[in-house]
Amino acid sequence: PRTARRRDDGVVEIAGIGLDEIAERFGTPAYIIDEADVRSRARAYREAFARAFAAIGTQADVYYAGKAFLSSHVAQWVTEEGLRLDVCSGGELAIAKKAGVPGENIGMHGNNKGVAEIDDALAYGVGRIVVDSFEEIDRVADAAARHGITAPVMIRVKLGVEAHTHEFIATAHEDQKFGFSAADGQIGDAVARVLARPELHLLGFHSHIGSQIFESAGFKEAATRLIALQLQVAKEHGVELPELDLGGGFGIAYLPSDAPLDPAEMATQLAGIVREACQNADVAVPRVSIEPGRSIVGPGGVTLYRVGTVKPVQASDDLVRTYVSVDGGMSDNARPALYQADYHAALANRGGSDELTPTRIVGKHCESGDIVVRDIDFPSDTRDGDLVVVAATGAYCRALASQYNHVPRPPVIAVADGDARVLLRRETIDDLLALEGE
Ligand code: LLP
Repeated sequence: PRTARRRDDGVVEIAGIGLDEIAERFGTPAYIIDEADVRSRARAYREAFARAFAAIGTQADVYYAGKAFLSSHVAQWVTEEGLRLDVCSGGELAIAKKAGVPGENIGMHGNNKGVAEIDDALAYGVGRIVVDSFEEIDRVADAAARHGITAPVMIRVKLGVEAHTHEFIATAHEDQKFGFSAADGQIGDAVARVLARPELHLLGFHSHIGSQIFESAGFKEAATRLIALQLQVAKEHGVELPELDLGGGFGIAYLPSDAPLDPAEMATQLAGIVREACQNADVAVPRVSIEPGRSIVGPGGVTLYRVGTVKPVQASDDLVRTYVSVDGGMSDNARPALYQADYHAALANRGGSDELTPTRIVGKHCESGDIVVRDIDFPSDTRDGDLVVVAATGAYCRALASQYNHVPRPPVIAVADGDARVLLRRETIDDLLALEGE
């Protein structure tokens, strides 16, 4: 987080509160989220996109992708900062409702929404449902008919652009479950199917090309293809398509060497692409939206652990690696195991020795892939009782957490202006026992 710093006494503090104090009050492991950091990133995206798209005569909306991390407090923060909310399940919708997010500010995603989820979404008056299959077009239309309303929908398409971190593929294999494919002519059929149902109002197209992307070229290629497709379809079918959604996926710095994209630069480039296409076709510019998740909540979150065992291991002929075990692991951060994700860490209760040693920070789970930080040079005097803080764990960590090995999930503590409060309490073993049947 932007407010993190090491005090003179060696303790790391965030938003003016020492992590040693957090550990004492709330225990470890704990997720800590810096409210000001989340709010300022939300604001930066909103302002950058609003400004760039106002300059081409339209409005831009930023939908926070709640899958990255959602609690009712976070839903309120982003709402207060002028963002909307993307939910992808009935559970996320329930949190949005609890937070009081207005229905019209909610977009609903998912490649296999259940009828009950669609009913809930329509009953709450969501502003858009992004449809992902022919079955779903019928399901949403049938539900809208039952509710006696017209459902606003977008069609999710795959454009053959796929981006992974530092590169993108312009003719990606479309062998994945999301969206209608441009390659096999499904998009025209999907449009026809939507337009044939008077209970549906087609707003436009949606595309999402991947996540943790550092390269602007993939976004630009996708935007170019998406707006071209939208204009062509609008013309062919003689309809007006007033909205366009460019998805999320902006990468964040997990390691000090990572260089994320600048939202303002992205906004300007994307606005330029949309403007040019609309100008050439001589049509009005649609209202544009994006759906960042990770880049809003990721950098402002950290995980705090307590060190237990420290074990030197002869890793190879010329390498002794220190294995530092902490009191959490793959149940609170599945990303190293799932995606070989790399993280950065530091001692949090003291600076530690200047002498560093090759270290692997590992969890407490009964599995050798239970890695927190794969490779790091860490103070060689790290010992039992020290606190370790892992950076940039605000996105897809609590969201992907499990109770593997019956380890209860850690709390989420928000810090702001020297104060700490519980967003999600720590799970207890009693919570786990309570799930058991008679
Ligand atoms: N919109 C749609 C339709 C999405 O599928 C996603 C992410 C987003 C927006 C937000 O993407 P973001 O800005 O957060 O990259 N668990 C993986 C990431 C999965 C992303 C799924 N979809 C991870 O931990 O890296």
